[in-house]
Amino acid sequence: MLSPQEVNPNDLFVEKSDRELEAFFGQLKSFLEWTDEDARTVASLREHIESQFGDMVDDFYAEILRHAATRQVLQDEGQVIRLKQTLFHWLEQFFSGVYDLPYVQARWKVGRRHVMIGLDQSYATAALGRLRMRINAGIIEALGQQQDGIVRSQLSVNKLLDIELAIVNAAYQLSFARLMELSAKQQMQQSERLAAIGQMVTGLAHESRNALQRSHACLETLALEIEDRPDAIRLVHRVQNALDHLHTLYEEVRNYAAPIKLDRQTVCLPKLVLRCWQQLEHKWQPQKTKLRLHLADGLQADGQWDPVRLEQVLTNLFQNAIDASGENGEVFCEVRQGDGTQNEAPALEPALAGSTPIVIEVSDSGPGISVSPPQRVFEPFFTTKTKGTGLGLAITRRAIQAHGGEIELVPGTKATFRIVLPISV
Ligand code: HEM
Repeated sequence: MLSPQEVNPNDLFVEKSDRELEAFFGQLKSFLEWTDEDARTVASLREHIESQFGDMVDDFYAEILRHAATRQVLQDEGQVIRLKQTLFHWLEQFFSGVYDLPYVQARWKVGRRHVMIGLDQSYATAALGRLRMRINAGIIEALGQQQDGIVRSQLSVNKLLDIELAIVNAAYQLSFARLMELSAKQQMQQSERLAAIGQMVTGLAHESRNALQRSHACLETLALEIEDRPDAIRLVHRVQNALDHLHTLYEEVRNYAAPIKLDRQTVCLPKLVLRCWQQLEHKWQPQKTKLRLHLADGLQADGQWDPVRLEQVLTNLFQNAIDASGENGEVFCEVRQGDGTQNEAPALEPALAGSTPIVIEVSDSGPGISVSPPQRVFEPFFTTKTKGTGLGLAITRRAIQAHGGEIELVPGTKATFRIVLPISV
């Protein structure tokens, strides 16, 4: 999905005309039986409750900062200070008694702003609930013995809070839907672009194949001519290697850009893992790399997958792991059921096991990959190695995503790739 920060705010804003906003506000007021008397009641509270605004604002942000989900949308201390002022002003407006068009427009803006900063609307709803508790408690504290006044004031305040919530939610929903629409459009444009690149590269690779073959033939003849000049022969070999690399690159770009059609069959994952490892014997045997394979107890690892694609994925991960672990290194591969999160249940109920995804983790004894953010390793042409095309992991991710799964580089010191793969679709 497109992140809100990648979007031009003007594209995200779904404007409502003044008339539409006024009509919407009118409907909400009618729904909640909001009257001028309510407006006067809320306004009359201000002088009693204003002294508590500072505490309410502090409580509001202390709670926001306590939760990772809300804390993460904030940038720095300075923003928190600004936001506190914004909320203070929001409270002043709330108790002002003036509930006109600019008031509704300001509330509408809150919902849009929250989409832009990537705040989940549930937290804004919960935060409003917390504010509601504080305001209602504040009314009791301010009005003390006046039971009638307390009930009337709380009723009016709660009506207005519900109207506010409805406005903020509506603005949020519209802007969020717009964000989804833009994401879908961008995704479509990207796949169209990829398909076009795929076609171009396929044509280019085809045309270049003949040229590459001719160059190879000429180089072989040249090598015979200069047999007695080892330095020159070495240069010829380097040119030949460069041509081979170019050929591989063409093939991989084509592989990356071509649409993926899965040929699903029943695959026994542990067998596939071992087969992939054995096929790489020429790589691990000379440097004596060991595979430590751990299969979870009671694992149900048969699924409907495309064996060729999965083989490509595992081979690529093993290949990278063997390269990274060096002489006498170790490659670890764990296969279990779960959802890949930290809280995943280790022992699954047998009844659930059949539908629980498979988690495959491949790590090595190498120095780890320090890339920030870790997901960059899956970008096309991103590489930390001197050899290779930089497309291996991008192709790997496409193959996993085509299966409805996901792959990530787990943050930490070791290079651990974690795949979460649905058993079947
Ligand atoms: C009762 C619920 C909430 C209300 C009434 C509220 C109110 C507001 C208002 C008035 C704005 C400024 C809108 C503008 O004019 O651009 C705003 C922006 C913002 N709000 Fe909220 N908010 C609420 C909940 C939250 C929560 C739970 C968070 C969590 C972190 C949050 C974070 C932000 C941020 C980061 C901005 C952008 C500030 C900036 O532009 O620097 N809000 N909010």
